[in-house]
Amino acid sequence: MKFTINARQHLLRLVPKDNAASLGSRGEPQAGMQVEGRRIAVTGASGSLGRALLLALHRRGARPMAISRRQQPLRLAGADHDQAVEIPTLTWSGRLTPALEAALADVDVLVINHGVNLHSASDGEALRRTLEVNLLSALELTDLFLRQSAALPPGRQAQRELWVNTSEAEVNPTFCPYYEISKRSLGALLDVRAIASPCPVRRLVLGPFRSALNPIGVMDPDWVAESILRLIRWNLPLVIVSINPLTYVLMPLRWILARAYLWLCGVRRSRT
Ligand SMILES: NC(=O)c1ccc[n+]([C@@H]2O[C@H](COP(=O)([O-])OP(=O)(O)OC[C@H]3O[C@@H](n4cnc5c(N)ncnc54)[C@H](OP(=O)(O)O)[C@@H]3O)[C@@H](O)[C@H]2O)c1
Repeated sequence: MKFTINARQHLLRLVPKDNAASLGSRGEPQAGMQVEGRRIAVTGASGSLGRALLLALHRRGARPMAISRRQQPLRLAGADHDQAVEIPTLTWSGRLTPALEAALADVDVLVINHGVNLHSASDGEALRRTLEVNLLSALELTDLFLRQSAALPPGRQAQRELWVNTSEAEVNPTFCPYYEISKRSLGALLDVRAIASPCPVRRLVLGPFRSALNPIGVMDPDWVAESILRLIRWNLPLVIVSINPLTYVLMPLRWILARAYLWLCGVRRSRT
């Protein structure tokens, strides 16, 4: 426990001041990232985590928006069978379109969550598809969102955030080689893109949860979504939800080492 709190405080020190939550006497965040009232778009919306996040955001008073390959608007109901809610849905194919660009200009937070895992497939087509969805499409969205953010006036820029769902596959084996390669590459490229980013870039680093992508995942996606939204209030660059204690050590270490290496390479935030 003590380690977790110390690690959090250490990480908070690494976050730029205008982005860091202040700690109250009980170590609770006093002013952190709030989702209430914010327009939050989630890709991979009809998947297990996409649905769970959108529902959890709706319940917390955010204004969620689904980005999905589905043609129909997404309707979500909780496990307690409360009334289904219809989430405004933008249809895409995984690539940028003018309609998507226009919609994202109005969004406060973009959650890049879509992904595939072709498990043990090792042919060229499986590699192409995995990189296309998990890496290239995610990077295309990242670049668009950061470019749009940079062009916004400071007041509006301050409301924007990018959350990217990589995976603990960044530091732990998943026994799915192409999946690991795609998620590790995405994490490594986000390290670089985040340094000069005009808005906070947070990484969702998740352990195995049940979904079509991982039918034997042990965590419940609704619980994972709730945990993400609880932790996001700490304003941390890494939002880790896992049952593997190693992830809580290896991921921050990897993040700090990557930052240090990029600093040595001369990749630094320019002072304006
Ligand atoms: N499950 C796990 O154990 C686990 C662990 C760590 C991280 N993750 C990550 O969490 C994210 C969500 O995964 P999940 O477990 O919730 O899986 P999921 O239920 O299979 O959801 C993934 C969603 O991604 C979208 N998608 C799939 N192929 C696509 C394509 N070609 N182009 C655009 N979108 C596509 C689909 O949503 P639409 O049909 O609505 O477009 C799909 O439902 C993924 O990035 C995954 O890598 C999962």
